[in-house]
Amino acid sequence: MPLLDMRDRLIVGLDLPTVEAAEAMVATLGDTVSFYKVGLQLSFAGGIDFARRLADSGKKVFLDVKLLDIDNTVEHAVENIARLGVTFCTIHAYPKAMRAAVAGKGMRDLRLLAVTVLTSMDEADLKAAGYAGTVAEIVAARAADARLAGMDGIVCSPEEARAMRSIVGAGMAIVTPGIRPGGSPAGDQKRVATPTAAIRAGADHLVVGRPILEAADPRAAAAAIQAEIALALSV
Ligand code: C5P
Repeated sequence: MPLLDMRDRLIVGLDLPTVEAAEAMVATLGDTVSFYKVGLQLSFAGGIDFARRLADSGKKVFLDVKLLDIDNTVEHAVENIARLGVTFCTIHAYPKAMRAAVAGKGMRDLRLLAVTVLTSMDEADLKAAGYAGTVAEIVAARAADARLAGMDGIVCSPEEARAMRSIVGAGMAIVTPGIRPGGSPAGDQKRVATPTAAIRAGADHLVVGRPILEAADPRAAAAAIQAEIALALSV
């Protein structure tokens, strides 16, 4: 994996209702944040064009659209996503979908991330969805599948990050949502950790949404997380 710029370790999830609100948040965060995630909420409100403009403006963009469909559809969707200039895009970690995505990406710069098990899910949720096996087992199996399929990274919770490094190797990115600085409410996230714990577990990028978006001073909250990441990397 290319050497990471320290500021690119933090990815702010722009889970906001409108492009105007996202633009205002990007302006508020200024130089403190270099990497943004555009997810489903914003994608359905003009967020795809916004993602292209954000990338054109020099920010890095993670388009978190968690694709899963038949091979032909995934392949051609990824071909189009690769033209947007975004850095990361997510695919659910089903082997056929991942292989189709890798084919669609071709030689372009886009990095494809496999969603292993959502950080809002625990063992009971997996069982209710019909899966046998623990969260740890399913994340590990999907990470191994992602590597075999030629994906560029995985998304998992900080709880699994350390164990995943030996499966995905040094060349794949480990991206962890479910980040909660000390004292922040977990909300719907069930597998959470602090920025320090996530970095110590070997995460390359931390995705943070509500702890920054809902802070009284989002820029200060983002700066505090950047400082916590820098400190965790230095010890
Ligand atoms: O607000 P919060 O920090 O919980 O936001 C986490 C973000 O990461 C959300 O945009 C969510 O969609 C995303 N995400 C996640 N778990 C995954 C993949 C993505 O929480 N496995």
